[in-house]
Amino acid sequence: MLEVQGIHTFYGLSHILFDVSLRVARGEAVCLLGRNGAGKTTTFKSIVGIAHPRQGTITFNGQNIIGRDSHILAQKGIAYVPDDRRIFADLTVRENLEIAAKGSGWNFDRVYELFPQLKSMESRRGGYLSGGEQKMLAIGRALMGNPEFLLLDEPMEGLAPLMVKTLEERIQKLKETGLTVLIAEQNVASALALSDRVYVIDDGHIRYEGTIEEFKQNEEIRKKYLQV
Ligand SMILES: Nc1ncnc2c1ncn2[C@@H]1O[C@H](COP(=O)(O)OP(=O)(O)OP(=O)(O)O)[C@@H](O)[C@H]1O
Ligand SMILES: [Mg+2]
Repeated sequence: MLEVQGIHTFYGLSHILFDVSLRVARGEAVCLLGRNGAGKTTTFKSIVGIAHPRQGTITFNGQNIIGRDSHILAQKGIAYVPDDRRIFADLTVRENLEIAAKGSGWNFDRVYELFPQLKSMESRRGGYLSGGEQKMLAIGRALMGNPEFLLLDEPMEGLAPLMVKTLEERIQKLKETGLTVLIAEQNVASALALSDRVYVIDDGHIRYEGTIEEFKQNEEIRKKYLQV
C-alpha cells in the first residue's frame, strides 16, 4: 500500500533522513520506533508532503505521492495525526468531528462507540479536554475523513499508563476494521502490543526491520537504539 524508497530529507542544510525505506502492506499495523530526534516525525512529514525529500520515491497504491499536498493525500485516503494533535480549541468535540467529515463509513456514532468518553463530552470545547481526550479526538477526527491509511505520530506520548492501555485497545480495534496503520513510537511496549512489524530508526537511518516476533527476541537492537 505504502512504499517509501531511499528518501533523503533535509531541513535547510541539515541532512536528517538518510536513504530511509519502508513498506506498509494493506491491513498491516507497522511501528516506526526510535528515540527522541531519531527522525520519526521527519519520516511522517516526508510521507504527507510537509517535508520534501530531495531523493527517493514514495508511492501509495502504486501512485507517486511525493510533493502532493495534504488535501490530495486525504482524497487518496491518507490521514495523518500529528504529535501535537492540532484540534480546534474553540470548537466543541462534536464540531471538531463535524468539520472533518468526508465520505461514508465513519460517522459520529462509530467514533463515539470507539471512544465513549468523547460522547459524554460532546459539547465541551477542545481546549478543555485532557491530553488523552485530545488524542482520542484527534484520532476520531482523522477517522471522520474515512481514511484507508492512518499515520499516528506518538499517540501514547505523555499519557498516563491507564490511558496508554485504553488507547492501545482502541487502536487494536481500528486495526480489526481493516484500517492500515503506521505508528511512530518510542515506547517498545506499545509497539509490541500494537504492531505486526517494526522498523527501528536512529540518527536518520533505518537500523532494523523485522516482525514483532523477531523483534521481541532481539534484545541487542532494543538496548542499542531504544530506551528499554
Ligand atoms: N524544522 C526543523 N528544522 C531543523 N531541524 C529539525 C526540524 N525538525 C526536526 N529537526 C531535527 O531533525 C532531527 C529528527 O527530528 P524528528 O522530529 O524527525 O525526530 P523524532 O524521531 O520525531 O523525535 P521525537 O521523538 O522527539 O518526536 C532532530 O535532530 C531534530 O532536531
Ligand atoms: Mg517526533
